[in-house]
Amino acid sequence: MKMSVIGCGYLGAVHASAMAELGHDVIGIDVDAAKIDLLRAGRPPFYEPGLPEILTSATASGRLRFSTEIADAAGCAVHFIAVGTPQKPGSYAADLRFVDAAVESLLPHLSPGDLVAGKSTVPVGTAARLAALVAPTGATLAWNPEFLREGFAVEDTITPDRLVYGVAPGEEGEHATSVLNDVYATALAADTPLVVTDFATAELVKVAANAFLATKISFINAMAEIAEVAGADVTQLADAIGYDGRIGRRFLGAGVGFGGGCLPKDIRAFTARAEELGRGESVVFLKEVDKINLRRRQRVVDLTVRAIGREVWKAKVTVLGLSFKPHSDDVRDSPALDVAVQLYGLGVNVTAIDPQAIDNARLRHPQLTYTSDLEDALRGADAVVLVTEWPEFRGLDPEWAGALVRTRTIIDGRNTLDAAAWRAAGWTYNGLGRP
Ligand code: UGA
Repeated sequence: MKMSVIGCGYLGAVHASAMAELGHDVIGIDVDAAKIDLLRAGRPPFYEPGLPEILTSATASGRLRFSTEIADAAGCAVHFIAVGTPQKPGSYAADLRFVDAAVESLLPHLSPGDLVAGKSTVPVGTAARLAALVAPTGATLAWNPEFLREGFAVEDTITPDRLVYGVAPGEEGEHATSVLNDVYATALAADTPLVVTDFATAELVKVAANAFLATKISFINAMAEIAEVAGADVTQLADAIGYDGRIGRRFLGAGVGFGGGCLPKDIRAFTARAEELGRGESVVFLKEVDKINLRRRQRVVDLTVRAIGREVWKAKVTVLGLSFKPHSDDVRDSPALDVAVQLYGLGVNVTAIDPQAIDNARLRHPQLTYTSDLEDALRGADAVVLVTEWPEFRGLDPEWAGALVRTRTIIDGRNTLDAAAWRAAGWTYNGLGRP
């Protein structure tokens, strides 16, 4: 199928490349010329495992092109809207500027029978509003939320765990469903579960999923807070409750909490939208979820200050990790970067290291000291703080690291290290929610 993907960020660039990889004829469009130049050269503007390979092969096959001109979307049967919906400055609500601009700029290039398929995460009610804008062109609108995880984005797009189509009632919806079935023919042939529903449900599915994941993480982090005062171990607690199939162990990783371009802003946008709809009380708990999450960052900072135990401005602290999670270079709302910046704000001499996120971190916080050399990072440290569980940090040898630092003190902000092994090597080990 001929399709356009409007917006070539973390979502759109992966979607465009994956669709071309699946055999579709794709044009990726973005207003950012620098981004388009990189994509044309086969270089993703961000780190995502597996993306360079499919980007290169799809571009070479001629099935994937990139443009800064929205007019190049003309003639495509499907137009995916994959632009960002960040948090609005000074508000909890989502900023729909980019979605609105994408749809409005597309209108003159739509033909009757085209499908506009929204993938961006939007407040419930957006699709119905946009459908009314699209209707006069004779095109149809559907909402097709995306559930990909950064770090696994290619895999999640090519083999999704479910597909959701929000469609209009009647023939229009049937048309949209049949077009999307063609788009996702490969996944559907592999029996991927499909939910065909109305606009509002599809929009809510997406935010409900992220709200649930955020709640699960904050739940275990709340247990960590209790464990800290009760002398219990939250990691064993998580294992034990996780064996209950109804609960499950995934997303019960207690630590410095969640970040990134999705979970934090999505729960905030959800509360803002619920308030607009007069149902703020239904999701008021998400404000607590947010607060618990942010408290964990402070907890890591406090533990570090306490571990240093003297004038912090005389201490060197190594921060292991800057991205919001491993296998990503994304530092949006990153707990790791936040901890580094807070420690710096206290006067600590912070050296931060990350396998992929240094450039993005430096753009936001040029004041920090960055290195990509682990020995450099650890040498002379008075405390080491692990905040993103990259494999190279999880696999650190406590003896090797111990020979480099000044004081063998580690704060494991992801509860990912073997506490006994680190203690045996003479380290003072501090986990979160652990004795
Ligand atoms: C999240 C969702 O998982 C995706 O399904 C969704 O499509 C995406 O948002 C989106 O809306 O686009 P992502 O932001 O890539 O994906 O990251 P997650 O893997 O969900 O992790 C989010 C944060 O939670 C990370 O900071 C991670 O370190 C943290 N986390 C995760 C924990 O603190 N504990 C855990 O047990 C799991």
